[in-house]
Amino acid sequence: MDASAGGSADPADGSAPPPTLFDWEFATDPYPAYAWLREHAPVHRTTLPSGVEAWLVTRYSDARQALADQRLSKNPAHHEGSAHAKGRTGIPGERKAELMTHLLNIDPPDHTRLRRLVSKAFTPRRVAEFTPRVQELTDHLIDQFCEKGEADLIHEFAFPLPIYAICEMLGVPREDQDDFRDWAGMMIRHAGGPRGGVARAVKQIRSYLVELIRRKRDDLGDDLISGLIRASDHGEHLTENEAAAMCFVLLFAGFETTINLIGNGTYALLQNPDQRERLQASLAAGETDLLETGIEELLRYDGPVEMATWRYATEPLTLGGQDIPVGDPVLVVLAAADRDPERFSEPDTLDLARSDNQHLGYGHGIHYCLGAPLARLEGQTALAELLTRLPDLELAEDPSELRWRGGLIMRGLRALPVRFTPSP
Ligand code: HEM
Repeated sequence: MDASAGGSADPADGSAPPPTLFDWEFATDPYPAYAWLREHAPVHRTTLPSGVEAWLVTRYSDARQALADQRLSKNPAHHEGSAHAKGRTGIPGERKAELMTHLLNIDPPDHTRLRRLVSKAFTPRRVAEFTPRVQELTDHLIDQFCEKGEADLIHEFAFPLPIYAICEMLGVPREDQDDFRDWAGMMIRHAGGPRGGVARAVKQIRSYLVELIRRKRDDLGDDLISGLIRASDHGEHLTENEAAAMCFVLLFAGFETTINLIGNGTYALLQNPDQRERLQASLAAGETDLLETGIEELLRYDGPVEMATWRYATEPLTLGGQDIPVGDPVLVVLAAADRDPERFSEPDTLDLARSDNQHLGYGHGIHYCLGAPLARLEGQTALAELLTRLPDLELAEDPSELRWRGGLIMRGLRALPVRFTPSP
């Protein structure tokens, strides 16, 4: 698909030709195409692989503005024609409505109410108290492959860590956590593909969550689900459906994203040996500053969320000089905004110590990532342990052989084969 197909491209200015979007090459390295769009067509209407027409917003200033603009709704019912809203996920109407009425699909005032309720239970303190458990989970996963001398870091490490972490935090009993691992795997494998797999997984997850919430209601504990049931605001509580949808969004907003933070982050470090050595030296000296700024830089440099989730114009608006009609979908391309040279110096360079780094990897505005503290904890723990326990970690495949998932919203590797000196 040609980037010039939309109304805003200007290929006639003698510069490089417009890039092809959404093919294999783009999935592998979208950044040259984003540089072209930022320069020539910063708010660009294009046809997505699904056939839906949408605006891509690629400059940092426009992206930030769009993320904070309340005229851009998150409710798919605002999509003109709404074919996307009906068809994309493949989740049958009733189930879809039940689990999909969650933070990422609603606007104020409902969003404000639900976000306030969940924030009372999913607190930074709860995350901080969870630190030793994330450390144990991380150690346990590395124990399972460290003697082999080789591993697929996506499958054996980045994939299980966030699912077990959020299951534990929610209070899903250990014996049921592997079911979640399977359902999550099904959702990732079938995302954007045939509908049956996703619909089946969502149905199973919903039945399970509703049942679990009922059981917890009768036997409240310290876990996050119990916290969600307890949370109240001016006497208001989450309904059963709202609680189930909230658990669903916590599970799935935090799952593929964190896999990709660990996957893309490790890959970026392996590709930038000077930065990786600097981080290893700093970890060996017992410092955490570079790890903290480093995780933020990895989110900016090659973050998990390539495009923010869908938004739809509820009023005519002008963005980056383009008039956007009511009902049109807008995709804010976080990956492009975070490489904007107008905002970041040497944006294509990985600099783990970068200090002026207000990246958009966690979004911006009222939908700013609720799970950012947990994601930071998992990302920092995972990368620190990998680099410390497997100091000579290296890619086991030529980078050109690596396969990227190629979805619209997420950016991540299908597999990350590595080798290292076996360690006990
Ligand atoms: C929202 C990124 C991990 C829960 C978002 C948004 C982004 C994002 C960009 C805003 C989307 C938009 O405006 O369209 C990330 C990244 C993560 C991560 C890069 C990992 C590195 C997590 C985790 C959780 C989580 C671990 C929870 C356990 C949420 C929720 C929202 C959200 C609930 C919706 C907030 C709202 O609409 O008010 N995330 N996320 N995320 N994230 Fe995360």
